[in-house]
Amino acid sequence: MVDALKKMGKISRKGPVVLVIMDGVGFGKYKEGDAVASSRTGTLNKLYKAYPWTKLKAHGTAVGLPSDDDMGNSEVGHNAMGCGRVFAQGAKLVNASISTGAMYEGTTWKKLINNAKEKQSTLHFIGLLSDGNVHSHIDNLKAMIVQAKKEGVSKVRVHALLDGRDVGELSALEYFDPFEEFLSGLNDEGFDAKIASGGGRMVITMDRYNANWNMVKKGWETHVLGEGRMFDSAHEAIVTLREESKAIDQDLPPFVIAKDGKPVGTIEDGDSVILFNFRGDRALEITKAFEAEELTEFDRKRRPDIEYAGMMEYDGDLHVPAQFLVTPPAIDKTLAEYLCASKVKQFSISETQKFGHITYFFNGNRSGKFDASLEEYVEILSDIVPFEERPWMKCAEIADRVIKEVENGDWDFIKLNFPNGDMVGHTGNYQAVVCSMEGLDLQIGRIYKAVMEAGGVMVITADHGNADDMFEHAKDGSVKYKENGDPQAKTSHSLNPVPCIICDSNYQGEYETELKSGLGISSIAATCMNLLDFESPSEYDPSIITVK
Ligand code: 3PG
Ligand code: CO
Repeated sequence: MVDALKKMGKISRKGPVVLVIMDGVGFGKYKEGDAVASSRTGTLNKLYKAYPWTKLKAHGTAVGLPSDDDMGNSEVGHNAMGCGRVFAQGAKLVNASISTGAMYEGTTWKKLINNAKEKQSTLHFIGLLSDGNVHSHIDNLKAMIVQAKKEGVSKVRVHALLDGRDVGELSALEYFDPFEEFLSGLNDEGFDAKIASGGGRMVITMDRYNANWNMVKKGWETHVLGEGRMFDSAHEAIVTLREESKAIDQDLPPFVIAKDGKPVGTIEDGDSVILFNFRGDRALEITKAFEAEELTEFDRKRRPDIEYAGMMEYDGDLHVPAQFLVTPPAIDKTLAEYLCASKVKQFSISETQKFGHITYFFNGNRSGKFDASLEEYVEILSDIVPFEERPWMKCAEIADRVIKEVENGDWDFIKLNFPNGDMVGHTGNYQAVVCSMEGLDLQIGRIYKAVMEAGGVMVITADHGNADDMFEHAKDGSVKYKENGDPQAKTSHSLNPVPCIICDSNYQGEYETELKSGLGISSIAATCMNLLDFESPSEYDPSIITVK
């Protein structure tokens, strides 16, 4: 347990501090494709004029990723905001574990390899096949397959999900084709590695926060049971299904690779299975499907008796999965924990798609409350629809509830996540993103009014960019166009900085109006502490405000 924070005795407001996280809303680098700047955001425009604001870094090393070429994402972004400092994150830790060989010295790796060797069974890898570096990296997978061969495993099957969400929307073959060649290059009399199944990551396997278990069911049928449409190769499957469905990669229907009408890689008793994604949110449900004795979410039909391991421990609190290859960052002393120790009453809310972001990620990948008597978590159920069809998502419902809570006056600190900029941004649909931003802006306006009337402070920020960068750009900065003349949509996050606006209802000159510059989003935690009249702990990254 952490100690209570020290009171500053300087800033006193009648109402709560309300932290608004606009998921995926940054400052665009390019005018063309910046759907944030080109939306009619009357509220935000007004707030930028009226209140102090600054830009915060939300990508690369500022959020614990290997390099500044890595775009930010919600896990590392919420970790940084909620934990007040920057931890080396999954992507970095897995790289290090593989390059030093520490992974292969670990008991889990050895157990899975020995299991496959002793039983002459198959080593399966399931995960996202791209270099997005948000949930996984293809280089990690390749390194592990090479090592498995070196250690004497004779059969490897890869169940590969198409990305198109953290990388280009139609980039799958840039990963699958060389990867199939890479496997052929490794294959010899004693070693047989193949892709066994696959599908779009938003269709099978990678659901999160219990939003749509049907995706996991379909993933199970595809990877484990080998049920589904059969093809000779992943290349053929992708080309054919693209042609038929016109879907972008993340939405491509599932496929099973078969020879003579028989799937080449169902998961059987005695096999070893590695989920090679390192990020937890979209790994927890499929992990549960493998590990749970009883599963109520769907009928598994057959549950193979296997050795299962995740790339990481996905939930350090509940210890899921039971076996994992790399220990996650030891994130401790989070904002919520400090605020509980200081008896601050806290309310957290989002809709399903980002509910775990504002709770589990914000609390350092920890599920459960620090102190149930001081905290309330509310989830508004997300619709199960393609978000370009309802770009406003549940932002009005989230705002309704926040306004009610502000008016009731029960909480000292309220935090919320609006998924619109990110979830709609990932669809690549420009018009829908503009609609999502305009809907969001209206709701921020409503919350702003309530917070000002209650005499509180509203801090508006974001976890990373996305909606601010909706077109693919060439190296020289020009927009890339499709054959039909439309701009090529960009579905992934951006490298752009994000805003931080401080709307204080009752500013009395207690802090400098010029906010610090050059900081990252990890400074949000200390800033919120200061606005709640607490000193921030010395190990935290600096607050954005300079208290006089
Ligand atoms: C996803 O999981 O949807 C994307 O890979 C990343 O999006 P997020 O980091 O904004 O959740
Ligand atoms: Co996102």
